[in-house]
Amino acid sequence: MEYNPYQFNYKYLIEGASSTIPLANGKFTTEINFDNAATTPPLKSVMNAINNFSPWYSSIHRGTGYKSNLSSQVYDDARKIIADFVNMDNKYSTVIFVKNTTEAINKIASKLAESSRKGIILSSYMEHHSNDLPWRKYFKIDYINVDETGRLSIDDYIRKLKRYKGMIRLVTLSGASNVTGHKTDIHYLAKLAHKYGTKILIDGAQLIPHSPIDMKSNCSDEHIDYLVFSSHKMYAPFGTGVLIGPKKTFRQGAPTHVGGGTVKIVTPNFVMWDDQPYKEEAGTPNIMGVVALVNAIKTLNKIGMKNIEDMELNLTEYALNKLNSIKDIKIYGNNKDCINRIGIITFNIIDMHHSVVANILSKEAGISVRSGCFCAQPYIQKLLNLTDKDIETHIKNPNYPHPGMVRISFGLYNDYSEINILANLLEKIVSNKKYYNELYSSNVNLSSSARY
Ligand code: ALA
Repeated sequence: MEYNPYQFNYKYLIEGASSTIPLANGKFTTEINFDNAATTPPLKSVMNAINNFSPWYSSIHRGTGYKSNLSSQVYDDARKIIADFVNMDNKYSTVIFVKNTTEAINKIASKLAESSRKGIILSSYMEHHSNDLPWRKYFKIDYINVDETGRLSIDDYIRKLKRYKGMIRLVTLSGASNVTGHKTDIHYLAKLAHKYGTKILIDGAQLIPHSPIDMKSNCSDEHIDYLVFSSHKMYAPFGTGVLIGPKKTFRQGAPTHVGGGTVKIVTPNFVMWDDQPYKEEAGTPNIMGVVALVNAIKTLNKIGMKNIEDMELNLTEYALNKLNSIKDIKIYGNNKDCINRIGIITFNIIDMHHSVVANILSKEAGISVRSGCFCAQPYIQKLLNLTDKDIETHIKNPNYPHPGMVRISFGLYNDYSEINILANLLEKIVSNKKYYNELYSSNVNLSSSARY
């Protein structure tokens, strides 16, 4: 893939893509958002859909009025649109609306723990905390290793599948890393999990907005059993997430959250739970979030997920070439090509703290990035080759400057000129490290990444 000056620019689809923001020198500039892995700005079509739906907004599954019936219909029809988007097997699986990926994983962890806390959860060192901590809360967990570039070790995966055969409750892995952008081969991982008699959950938070996905029919040994993702990372804020899983999992037992909308019959000493998925959606459902998500899916489908993937990888390749040509920049993960990745690049400037670099980018050129550990501290510790002693030192001294990196992450609306501005500023910073370090270090809390 090469620099393509004629690549279509989708900025016009995005709300606020040309926002003007202040710089340290008092001037104003157009914002450059390279923090799409954290959250994406809304699509204009999503905001229009929200406004258009507002006059029809009413209670879901609770009213008999025309608007309530209409709102309930829109809400329930959304499940089919989402199922089609990920090619879910409708006979086998169900769509449950939650708040975000984190809530989805907490929900499935607590659901599995309800029947028994026995067995092992097999996860990996490349996971976001949200695909680690919810499991630790209830289960014994083991982590598949990563190689020196941060890629999941298939050898270690197979070793652990063999070691824990018959004891694994679930394999739970990222579809794409929020740190290195590495994509995993989800169908091969699923095939292996099924071969060893266990189901697999794919954390799709970073994958779904940037790449086509196919959960595959349940008849295929490559099918994905559980898929979770967030709408706020796919241009649809308003607080909706999706948990897809086997209907069977949610038929048994009590829901993880109980209350309104979860029951068929309640007496002072008896409860009959509603059917899935309703019993797992306690409280009034977030119809606005669902309207936003469905509309984002329609727009993404119109552009085409394969097109989006290709465009973002073109940008990534262009950015990799630029960054590789600047001395003193260290790129983590795959610094060479765009094979099996999404549009995320993570780096450090030698002898500069990641928070300082991130601040300079923001204050000098209006470039938004994220710096720190990206809610994936065990993975960062591996990628930075931190020793047990280093980690111990940080635990004992939480106010020391925190290790971490600077991350740029692309969305469908970013363009080459923005990468040029980033690369020019990085060149300038590298050539004037002393000046920039002195100017910005005092303004930055170097241990703030503790909360990442
Ligand atoms: N998980 C999101 C990120 O990586 C918030 O930034």
